[in-house]
Amino acid sequence: MRESGKQWVTEEKEEATEEDGGESRRVYWPTAEMKEKAYFSDERIYEEASRDPEGFWAEQGRALIDWFEVWEGRKEGKEGKEGEKVEEGKVVELNPPYFKWFVGGKTNLSYNCLDRHLEERRNEAAILWVPEPENEPQRVLTYLDLYREVNKFANVLKGLGVKKGSPVTVWMPMIPETAVVALACQRIGALHSIVYTAFAPHAVRERMEDAGSKILVTADGFYRRGKKIELKNRIDEGAVLEKVGAECCVVVRRLNREGREGKGEDSGEGEDSGEGEGEGEGEGEGEVAMKEGRDYFYDELMKNTPFSYCDPETLTSDDISFLLYTSGTTGKPKAVMHSCGAYSVGVALTMKLVFDLHPTDLFWTTADIGWITGHSYALYGPLLAGATTLWYEGAPDYPNPSRWWKIIEENAVTVFYTAPTAVRALRAAGEKWVAGRDFSSLRLLASVGEPIDPDTWRWFFEKIGERRCPLVDTYWQTETGGILLSSLPGVGPFVPGVAGPALPGVRFDVLDATGEPVKVGESGYLVVKPPYAPSMLRGIYKNPAKYLGEYWSEYGAEIYFAGDGGVKIGREIGGQPLIKITGRIDDVMEVAGHRLGTAEVEEAVSSLEEVAEVAVVGKPNAIKGEVPALFVVLKDKKEKAEMDRKIVKAVREKVGPVATPEVAYYVSDLPKTESGKIIRRFLKGLVRNEALGDMTTAQNPECLKELAKATEYRGPQKIPGYKV
Ligand code: WTA
Repeated sequence: MRESGKQWVTEEKEEATEEDGGESRRVYWPTAEMKEKAYFSDERIYEEASRDPEGFWAEQGRALIDWFEVWEGRKEGKEGKEGEKVEEGKVVELNPPYFKWFVGGKTNLSYNCLDRHLEERRNEAAILWVPEPENEPQRVLTYLDLYREVNKFANVLKGLGVKKGSPVTVWMPMIPETAVVALACQRIGALHSIVYTAFAPHAVRERMEDAGSKILVTADGFYRRGKKIELKNRIDEGAVLEKVGAECCVVVRRLNREGREGKGEDSGEGEDSGEGEGEGEGEGEGEVAMKEGRDYFYDELMKNTPFSYCDPETLTSDDISFLLYTSGTTGKPKAVMHSCGAYSVGVALTMKLVFDLHPTDLFWTTADIGWITGHSYALYGPLLAGATTLWYEGAPDYPNPSRWWKIIEENAVTVFYTAPTAVRALRAAGEKWVAGRDFSSLRLLASVGEPIDPDTWRWFFEKIGERRCPLVDTYWQTETGGILLSSLPGVGPFVPGVAGPALPGVRFDVLDATGEPVKVGESGYLVVKPPYAPSMLRGIYKNPAKYLGEYWSEYGAEIYFAGDGGVKIGREIGGQPLIKITGRIDDVMEVAGHRLGTAEVEEAVSSLEEVAEVAVVGKPNAIKGEVPALFVVLKDKKEKAEMDRKIVKAVREKVGPVATPEVAYYVSDLPKTESGKIIRRFLKGLVRNEALGDMTTAQNPECLKELAKATEYRGPQKIPGYKV
């Protein structure tokens, strides 16, 4: 490639020694070449956008998305002469905590990802799919291929009775059909609800029940770490479809395609998969049982549907385009609702701002489609940008820890987006897996999901980015739909361990407990202020109270409370402070970059009859960031190994392998307030070796001695009766 191996970043001249928590760090900036290439390279964009956020978004909304009808009040066809303001209608309508963007605009996400690109890019690759088995060929779907498949499957869904607004639950792996299913839902205005495949069938059931979904689209299975992980058979074993009264189930044959017989491997083993849960019962190799009149094979439905155009449903900018379940501070996961046009504008803008994605780029997000990063940046974002998105089916370390690096090299990936946990794990596997690989195609690296520590940042930047590529740390959430905070590749700076400034057009801040913005160096809570960002959630499906309670009550209904902590580090760009994200301040864990609620794990464990009480906290882990640690009070004394096994099994069955606990401490009591509430702050302090704080707030502080012993506490606090 012409651009191969170019130097896209430069180190700050005067060796910067930015003091932040005692750490000195080097700072990087884009080179002239990067500035020239980038869509955005002038830092004045920050000031322009904050002077007039509505005008900024209106301009982006017009430029990035095709609208069937422009938003209300805008005088169609009226172009502003130079210096003359174009008359705009309602770009945003605020009614906190509710808000609308591009009010009354009409569009469709599938149309914007596919149809509008056909004229210029019909034969360009939309998806490049890399299967896990190395002897299986990669697949390319051009924009035309994808368009045709999506139209067909949209008609299939209609034929199955799926309507605008119907929830469609999807439990599918990283295979191209998953993209087809999602885009087909968009086309007809149905709401996909995609569930991560490392969650358990039980989790699928709960999400179908909560949404009232009557249709499941799944696969026979997929490959992970050389094993076959079954899906449909496990749904059947759990009688999920019967229990939720599903009317229809569509099954993609991934393992057992025509002409490809499954070989006698076991299924479902391995760390991240459904160990012991994957084996099909009584069915032949890779076979699945199909119930007449309810279950259909995807390939058969498609074969019997000749290509015919399916009119994209006209949706308003704020109509709901999909649901995605995520963990909150309490109770079961809840379905975040995302909008159609406004979400599209937000995501499409970040493709340019943060990833500087050009149509010729090959973009690889390693996130699974079951998470928001998979939605916004493996699927919709790159297609909105008309680029090529790479989807990889399997594990990063299969058949060895060089697999990802090999994929980058062989396919000439240009922009690579992953999570710190994966980088740490691949680094720990040894330098030899990276050595000798050619990363010259890369232009940009990006990180998401948890804070990236400076040490991991540097390794990623040096070994994979070859000290040539900017590394942007992107902060956002399922709820925000798209990135809210990151340095821009064409503007900089890139500071190891610091996410960066809020994106242009986003009013972001860090507040103290009283609601005042924090001073430099002080930590506080991350918030978004009006007019918010177009890509942000539109509510919680069927649960408005939860929407208010989780996000709009800490500082009142006008301020979005993210649940994360942050620090302004004392540097600015374009008048915006650079912010270091310190992590969740609530009971949400980030396990290997995956968001999990302590409440879900607790519920699974307390379902065991031996368990009297349980509390789960995130324990720091060198690779995964955090892992679930359990404090368990048993009704009667039990053998530890046996209890450990039971607990692991319960969590894997109820939540999924992704939530497998790392350690259980069996103790006789948990610290509680006078009103009987478990004081998690103490438990967190114990597993993190941090100060616990005022112990007199507990009615039973004497139990801390036993807990400190169990966790081998080495923190600063003196705990009566306990010695290190
Ligand atoms: C965390 C993932 C630090 C944060 C997109 C947030 C981060 C949660 C970063 C959302 C980052 C995400 N630095 N922490 N760059 N990105 N987080 O909903 O705690 O799966 O609230 O969305 O991940 O996780 P979610």
